[in-house]
Amino acid sequence: MISKASAPAKIILFGEHFVVYDVKAILATINKRITVTSETTAEPTISIQSQLGDIKIGILEKNTIPELRPFEFLAKKMIKEFSHKGGIKIQIESDIPYGVGLGSSAAACVASAASISGLFTKYSKDKICKLAIEAEKTIFENTSGADCTVCTFGGIIEYDKSGYQKIKLEPDFNLVIVNSEIIHRTKDVVSKVLQFKNNNAARFEELCVKESEIIRKVKIAIEQKDYKALGSLIKENQVYLKEIGVSNDTLDGIIQTVDKTSYGSKITGAGGGGCIISIAEESAIDDIIRKLDKYQIQCFAAKIDYRGLETF
Ligand code: MEV
Repeated sequence: MISKASAPAKIILFGEHFVVYDVKAILATINKRITVTSETTAEPTISIQSQLGDIKIGILEKNTIPELRPFEFLAKKMIKEFSHKGGIKIQIESDIPYGVGLGSSAAACVASAASISGLFTKYSKDKICKLAIEAEKTIFENTSGADCTVCTFGGIIEYDKSGYQKIKLEPDFNLVIVNSEIIHRTKDVVSKVLQFKNNNAARFEELCVKESEIIRKVKIAIEQKDYKALGSLIKENQVYLKEIGVSNDTLDGIIQTVDKTSYGSKITGAGGGGCIISIAEESAIDDIIRKLDKYQIQCFAAKIDYRGLETF
């Protein structure tokens, strides 16, 4: 038996970090994907092949590559739940850059949850999303769940810890994604923000209020397809991200370069490295990419993906 699923990369348009403290965030998926193929095997082992490494372990054994824990967790959970006597082979193929804030691990958790459970049953998207969040928690215990949610449902969503709401409109704005190629660990950057919050409680509270106000205005800008206004809100959000300490000189330099020809740019995801997103006119994209030549880093144009999780 073979089961295949694919899930998109994500960006956080607005509200990263503040979402951990119950402010709403706006997330979207983009047209880069991860595909997971699972297969039941007669041999009682779990094998995983991915860019992060290959492992083969017995059902009761633990793997030694921490990043592969979510897939090991999902395989073991399904084997137990469905009293499967054999093993599972999992193959993960990705065109999402790893560890740079584009949700590669959430997309992998979502596609794996769907692919592995699909060997035994057909779960609803809600159930797959919950399973994926459980799996992601094996590597990032305090995840808000935002990334897995958007990777499951696709498009643009408004999210807070109590749930999500899909933004029904399908705006077609152009994005440029710039990968600073500085690897970050979300967990570490989130801890740094907690430290900022503990040392500056009143200011952090103020910033949460300001961020909520941005989110309110974003929905209006999207409704009115006012991408210039959206760009200004992106710039404002970046100011707050800088204040809570998740930017750095390289990221600031990229943002300054890109800001000249785009509507606005900001960090997306945890920061400390990772990616910058920029909203731009289609006609400005080549110019933006040319201006970034001096950094010798990966950058590409992207569109919002409205497909979300797909199973085959
Ligand atoms: C990471 O992509 C987004 C953060 O807000 C953490 C989270 O929401 O779990 C930094």
